[in-house]
Amino acid sequence: MALERPSRRTTLALLVAGGLSLLVGRVVDAFGPFRSDGGERWPADDTVSLPAPRDQSNVSVEDAIDSRRSRRTYSDRPLDRSELGQVLWAAQGVTDQVDDHRAAPSAGALYPLELYVVIGSPGVEGLDPGVYRYRPEGHELGQGRTGDLQAELRAATLDQEFVDDAPADIVICGVDERTTGKYGDRGRQRFVPMEAGHAGENLYLQAEALGLATVSVGAFDDDRVREVLEAPSTQRPLYVFPVGERVGVTDE
Ligand SMILES: Cc1cc2nc3c(=O)[nH]c(=O)nc-3n(C[C@H](O)[C@H](O)[C@H](O)COP(=O)(O)O)c2cc1C
Repeated sequence: MALERPSRRTTLALLVAGGLSLLVGRVVDAFGPFRSDGGERWPADDTVSLPAPRDQSNVSVEDAIDSRRSRRTYSDRPLDRSELGQVLWAAQGVTDQVDDHRAAPSAGALYPLELYVVIGSPGVEGLDPGVYRYRPEGHELGQGRTGDLQAELRAATLDQEFVDDAPADIVICGVDERTTGKYGDRGRQRFVPMEAGHAGENLYLQAEALGLATVSVGAFDDDRVREVLEAPSTQRPLYVFPVGERVGVTDE
């Protein structure tokens, strides 16, 4: 059966409609609470600010590297907001306000990592138990699921009990498509996991310098971790870091 050719007017109308929807999509991407690149999914109005990060310390980088260990026991003391904010900043905070470059390097400065915090009870002073997403641009947290979900996260991480023992867990996810657009499959296979490693080491060293304890957890069920976070399927959980006060160590 021969298809009827659309009239010139119909073709023009279709072109205009297509162009408009593209434009609207871009504007929504740029300013709206939801992004189509696998990033923010939560409304931007539920925001918790974090204290400004400090850029001075009595602990040298050499000391932190030398004493860094994977630590799996944590005191019962909840973290305070500045401790949580500081480790998030070290992992992925904005350190160059001009270019918006971050604490950890990123291939093409495309920043494919998303950091979540699963806060337990008692977890972090002044913050209800639940899931939060770190927003590096404002050094703040967006609130997601509420309630103590650490037991769920522990189950998703092959029942590694210290995931539930720590006052909070930081989960690093990768949004591959932010990087594969420029670098193809090399972005997914290498660059995004490499970047999680950079962020993770910064997190380790910052925890060490603050007298905190953490461990990089890579053994888990991706889908179950994603479910705990309610993260979109475009995000790949790469690392879980339980964080808490180191047992037997007081503040520096
Ligand atoms: C990619 C990666 C995955 C890891 N996964 C786990 C894990 O699932 N559970 C755990 O207890 N430790 C995990 N670790 C921590 C290692 O066990 C730890 O780094 C190693 O024993 C060396 O000890 P150190 O970090 O104190 O030097 C992981 C480390 C890396 C680098």
